[in-house]
Amino acid sequence: MIASGSQVDSASAVSRRARVLVADDTESIRALFQKLLTNEGHQVISVEDGIEALDAARRHRPDVILLDVGMPGIDGLEVCRQLKSDPSTRLTPVVLVTGLSDLSDRIKGIEAGADDFLSKPVHPHELRARVASLSRVKQLTDALDSAEAAFVALALTIEARAPMMNGHCERLASHAVVLGRTLGLPAEDLDALHRGGYLHDLGKVGVPDSILLKPGPLTAEEFDLMKRHPDIGDMLCAPLQSLQNVRPIIRCHHERLDGSGYPQALRGDEVPLLAQIVGIVDVFDALTSKRPYRDALKLEDAARHLIGEVEEGKFARAHVEAFLDTLHTTVSV
Ligand SMILES: [Fe+2]
Repeated sequence: MIASGSQVDSASAVSRRARVLVADDTESIRALFQKLLTNEGHQVISVEDGIEALDAARRHRPDVILLDVGMPGIDGLEVCRQLKSDPSTRLTPVVLVTGLSDLSDRIKGIEAGADDFLSKPVHPHELRARVASLSRVKQLTDALDSAEAAFVALALTIEARAPMMNGHCERLASHAVVLGRTLGLPAEDLDALHRGGYLHDLGKVGVPDSILLKPGPLTAEEFDLMKRHPDIGDMLCAPLQSLQNVRPIIRCHHERLDGSGYPQALRGDEVPLLAQIVGIVDVFDALTSKRPYRDALKLEDAARHLIGEVEEGKFARAHVEAFLDTLHTTVSV
């Protein structure tokens, strides 16, 4: 059920009208929240269980979610956990509505990623203040999301300038996530790998086209300029809080375990794991893509080349072998 408020008081006139999802199995509480929030000018989506809450959160993209902890079926804690592990909803503020003295629910709520709590019986002023402040937080994270979306668009524009790179970012994101999952990495690392796949070469915006699109090998001077792209990309992303876990990928995807990479010639464990993963799939994608000066390598030849890089100490054997397994490619070495 969706309702819009018509009465807007002076306080809400200066605050943002939010879309609020209310999930509670008690009809009287849903009705109370709906009345209080619509009176503030907010739009309210009201559902009565956890499954409906998850569905409504993904379909209506609310600004704030109020979850009763004790719902039948999927309870509020599990709904919160699922919302916070889904990249499309993890930045949406979640308020858990709990009994006043239920400390264990609150601890579990913090562990589930809840942003705030309301105690029953809910005081109308507290409800209004909580929704107003969290919808401002959402407004800010939406703005950051927009900045990230602009960076992704820029990265794809850079890719589009080089026709032979067509689809590189998308393939990289996909391969990196598959490898990360195979290595048993948690959801937040898979999310970083996905975004890092798109953004790893963002810094190429600072590399002249004459170098970026050069059909042949680069001179030493040109390569020095090219080697600046990880630092440029990292610098662009530095102000965005939402990209902090992606920055090591951008900064270090050309570092190699034997210290032969750039820009910092890091060695071994100094190279962040997520950057190692993107480094492997980046090299693989370059090898299996056509270049003006050579044809795309066959899968087996690219796999053999990667194994060669393992033997030189550039990549971890376990990571490369796990990646090749995901491609169902076997190479005798
Ligand atoms: Fe790169």
